[in-house]
Parts: sequence; C-alpha cells; structure tokens
Amino acid sequence: MHDSRETIGRHAFVTGYPVKHSRSPLIHGYWLETLGLQGSYTRQEVLPEDFAGFISRLKSGESGFIGGNVTIPHKETAFALADRPDALSEELGASNTLWLEDGRLHATNTDGFGFLANLDAAASGWDRTDRAVILGAGGASRAILQAVRDRGVAEIHVVNRTAARAQELADRFGPSVHAHPMAALPEVMKGAGLFVNTTSLGMDGEAAPDFDFSPLGEGAVVTDIVYVPLVTPILRQAAEQGFATVDGLGMLLHQAVPGFEKWFGVRPAVDARLRRMILADM
Ligand code: ATR
Repeated sequence: MHDSRETIGRHAFVTGYPVKHSRSPLIHGYWLETLGLQGSYTRQEVLPEDFAGFISRLKSGESGFIGGNVTIPHKETAFALADRPDALSEELGASNTLWLEDGRLHATNTDGFGFLANLDAAASGWDRTDRAVILGAGGASRAILQAVRDRGVAEIHVVNRTAARAQELADRFGPSVHAHPMAALPEVMKGAGLFVNTTSLGMDGEAAPDFDFSPLGEGAVVTDIVYVPLVTPILRQAAEQGFATVDGLGMLLHQAVPGFEKWFGVRPAVDARLRRMILADM
C-alpha cells in the first residue's frame, strides 16, 4: 500500500487517545496550503500502551515523521521519553510539541506561549498589571501560571475548588504564586488586572454561578481558555459588567505556531481567515 508519508515534504502529526476531535490538522493544513509548502500533518491515534513504541519509531526515523503535537493522555509520557526536553517542559512535567534535531528528540510546551500571544494580540498592554487571578489548578492552569509568572506579573493568585491543588501549584511555581479557596475570590480579585478561567465552571450541565467582577481593577481583562462555546458564561458576564474579554480560540491557534515553525521552517500567521475557518467547523 502506498504510504502518503513517503511523498515529498516533511510530515508531522498530532497524537492522543482519542485524537479525532483535535482541530490541529485543520490549523496546520491551512498553513501548509496557504504557504504553498510540501508536507503533511495527520492525526495519529495511539493507545497509551503503544505510545513508547510510537516514540521509538519516531526517534529512529522509521515512522518518517519529523515531529508533532502531543495531547491527552500522552503529554507527561512524551516529556519523559524526550531526549532534550526544554526548561519549560521540565518545570511542567509535560510536553505538547516534539521535533527531531541533530538526531535527538526535543520537546517543549507551547500552551503558555499560545496563552500570552493570544492576550498580546487581543488586549495589548494587559501585562502592565501587577496582579493576576487564575481560576482552576489543572494541567492548563499550570502552563498559564508559568507563562504569566515568566512575563513578570508580580502577584498571581490561584483560586481552586480543591484548595490543596492550588497550594501544590503555589509550592511548585514560587513566591509570586499564592493559593486560595473559592470563598476568597471576591477578596483576591480586588485590583487585579487579569482574570483567567481554566475550569469548565458553568459548562458541565449546571447553571453558571453569578460572578461579580466589580472588584477587578479598572481596565481589567477577563479571559477563558475554553473556546466551545466561544462566549463562555464567564466571558458573557464579564462583558455585561463592562470588562474587556478575550476568548480562548486564539490560544489554540497561537500555541500551534512554534511547532509549525520547527517542522516546516516558516513562522505562520494567525490570521482572521484561519479563525473563521475553525469557527465554521465548530
Ligand atoms: P485541565 O487539565 O483541562 O486544566 P483538570 O486537570 O481536570 O483539567 O482541571 C480542571 C479544573 O477545573 C480543576 O481546577 C477543577 O477543580 P478541582 O481541582 O477542585 O477538581 C476545576 N473544576 C472543574 N469543574 C468545576 C466546578 N464545577 N466547579 C469548580 N471548579 C471546577
């Protein structure tokens, strides 16, 4: 059987289990086409028990891939199996982007980059604040916490239903990070310039709680990493209360940029047409 990966060009993948809902092939396919590049980006569904074999065929060159994206549940294993994980992945213990270079498998995590690039594009100047609030303490929260800390925001407050998980992040990410239970939210919001939701609050079939954003600082930006629906209950409420909002779709698009550049050698643009194309597919 003819294997499409033997055609000319470079070949990259997104692997996960399951992976059929991933929108990454649409994004990278759009860039390959609009930039006129030879190559492919395909879904590779890999069971957890087969993942080590998948990585060893990637490293040996047998698979024909030059790298790819990694999603749930393989991000931690991808980090552990990479030869050269970067400092960002080291601190997170998870990698979402892999590439072969000088015969070694390199790994990074681009979620934090995507988060910052989305805010920079949609709400430039957001980082003039010295106080940010992050709701949630899961995997997505970690990468965002790391990125906001590395951008230099002086105080970052992580608020979570399970306060112990927030405390783990505060312990891991250093003295600028503070942990709080949900009940502390109104107090913690006071004067903050950035509010980030990383939870599925209000979208798990239960009614969204009422959020009072009025303690936030003047000109504060409210963002959500959830992008289905594009306007989440938290974003709707923040907009109704007069705050600037940034939806999470841009984070998905921007986090794809560094991988594409590594694999195909061109830095792609996140443009309005790409955004419209992904929205049309939702
Ligand atoms: P992800 O990797 O996408 O961040 P996760 O690790 O499952 O996902 O984390 C989900 C986050 O949403 C957690 O912070 C979770 O709170 P707990 O740590 O207390 O579980 C939060 N979350 C999910 N549903 C929630 C709800 N109904 N109310 C409050 N927090 C919720």
